[in-house]
Amino acid sequence: MTGARGQLGRALTALAPAARGLTHADLDITAADAVRELVQPGDVLINCAAYTAVDPAESEPDAAFAVNATGPAVLARVCAERGARLVHVSTDYVFPGTGSRPYESDDPTGPATVYGRTKLAGEQAVLEFAPDARIVRTAWVYTGAGNDFVATMRRLERERDTITVVNDQIGSPTYALDLAAGLLELAGALGPGVVDPRIPRILHATNAGQASWFDLARAVFTGLGADPERVQPCGTEDFPRPAPRPAYSVLSGNSWAAAGLSPLRDWKLALNDALAAISDYPGPP
Ligand SMILES: NC(=O)c1ccc[n+]([C@@H]2O[C@H](COP(=O)([O-])OP(=O)(O)OC[C@H]3O[C@@H](n4cnc5c(N)ncnc54)[C@H](OP(=O)(O)O)[C@@H]3O)[C@@H](O)[C@H]2O)c1
Repeated sequence: MTGARGQLGRALTALAPAARGLTHADLDITAADAVRELVQPGDVLINCAAYTAVDPAESEPDAAFAVNATGPAVLARVCAERGARLVHVSTDYVFPGTGSRPYESDDPTGPATVYGRTKLAGEQAVLEFAPDARIVRTAWVYTGAGNDFVATMRRLERERDTITVVNDQIGSPTYALDLAAGLLELAGALGPGVVDPRIPRILHATNAGQASWFDLARAVFTGLGADPERVQPCGTEDFPRPAPRPAYSVLSGNSWAAAGLSPLRDWKLALNDALAAISDYPGPP
């Protein structure tokens, strides 16, 4: 996998220690010659490398485009040339985020941010250049260790009496280890050998159910044994950000289930496991 030191890359490494994990220092995914040297026929390459800083991307579109669009294009071309299979990870931000029912994998896209536009361009390149590749969109990924939302809530629970968290953005919190297990199952279904035609080219994989950030924060406090009333709701307008956030970006699990892959469990069950396992979790480097 690429992006091995990122949040998802570390989760994959934890579950599949024998898999080859390429950090940014090992491989820049935009460098075609270096990619060509590493990818071998029969490989299944999971691309976890990305420019994921949603707000900075608004003022650094070229940097975001290089990693999120040029990089996947390079990987797709090389994988197609070499007879390797590519699993490319993408995001709910390719959608406008204004829906009111879970997004299906073939729903029209319409990103509202630079990050989302660059990720959509990456998807399009993968579809064009690597006929065997699969794209897996996910959302709201956390490990609870490092700087993600769950980790931040754990820290704020220790540091503050009360906090306010936005209650008008709805998504599907997704435990990185559950997503990693799903990606490994998908990778196993793709190769080597014949690609199962039931597996669509674009899939969605998140933990089941939906929540607001406020719901998730309260669930973290509850899971830590703290009083959830210490978390109070507020609106998006109380936290202005450079990049607009989707009001609703729940991803439907239908494409995943139709492909015969194991559904990811409910987000609350996953969060409880994540909180219980946090001391064992491989933290950021
Ligand atoms: N986190 C979420 O909530 C979320 C939600 C939806 C979708 N996703 C998608 O899930 C995937 C994994 O995200 P993540 O949360 O694991 O991201 P992450 O923690 O930011 O990790 C991304 C990794 O990519 C590496 N990278 C950056 N530029 C690179 C390049 N040119 N070549 C090779 N590696 C490069 C980074 O290394 P350096 O730091 O050393 O540069 C970093 O280790 C991404 O495709 C992301 O778009 C994430």
